[in-house]
Amino acid sequence: MPTCATVFVIVGSVRAQRLCPQIASWVAKIGRSRSTFAVEIVDLVDWPLPMDDEPGIPALGAYSGERTQAWSAKIASADGFVFVTPQYNWGYPAVLKNALDHLYREWRGKPAVIVSYGGHGGGKCAAQLRQVAEGGLKMRVATTMPALVLSDDAMRSCLIEPDQDFKAHVSSIERAFEELASLLSGEFAANGA
Ligand SMILES: Cc1cc2nc3c(=O)[nH]c(=O)nc-3n(C[C@H](O)[C@H](O)[C@H](O)COP(=O)(O)O)c2cc1C
Repeated sequence: MPTCATVFVIVGSVRAQRLCPQIASWVAKIGRSRSTFAVEIVDLVDWPLPMDDEPGIPALGAYSGERTQAWSAKIASADGFVFVTPQYNWGYPAVLKNALDHLYREWRGKPAVIVSYGGHGGGKCAAQLRQVAEGGLKMRVATTMPALVLSDDAMRSCLIEPDQDFKAHVSSIERAFEELASLLSGEFAANGA
């Protein structure tokens, strides 16, 4: 297993009363306990990226805006990702798509885990994100895709206790991090790290 890999846990929603930061922290806690990765939470609320600020095609990498350049440097510095995303109307939040679409090479080829949540676990949005990450961005997505089920109460109140509410999902999160480690270990072995 790589000892020095940097893994970003991406917080995929930004609405005011969101659950995502709490869920992402819980996922990161499990990741830290089950791996030697340097796990960092990256919250999209801290990376505002206007939808109309880049005139060029991201795949060419010629970014004009300072914010895009900073986002590029940030994402380039990670070895792998865990996307934590809610399901919004069967898809994943526009803010996450926008953050992905601002870049290209910085994501390309890197391993990723998708953790979704929603009333039924958010499987529809996870499938969409998988298609975009694998097909579009050529990322290597772990087959284990934990899908956390929110109760009606949790959705209404926006209150959760992840250790309690998502107990049944701990093993799938652990499995996903193990898969991430194995996706990364080939890469690190190839690089002699
Ligand atoms: C715009 C919007 C659309 C939603 N659509 C769905 C949906 O399609 N399926 C689902 O299970 N839950 C849906 N929900 C409920 C969310 O999964 C739940 O509110 C979750 O907490 C949202 O994540 P967030 O709190 O991080 O924003 C939706 C919520 C919002 C705000």
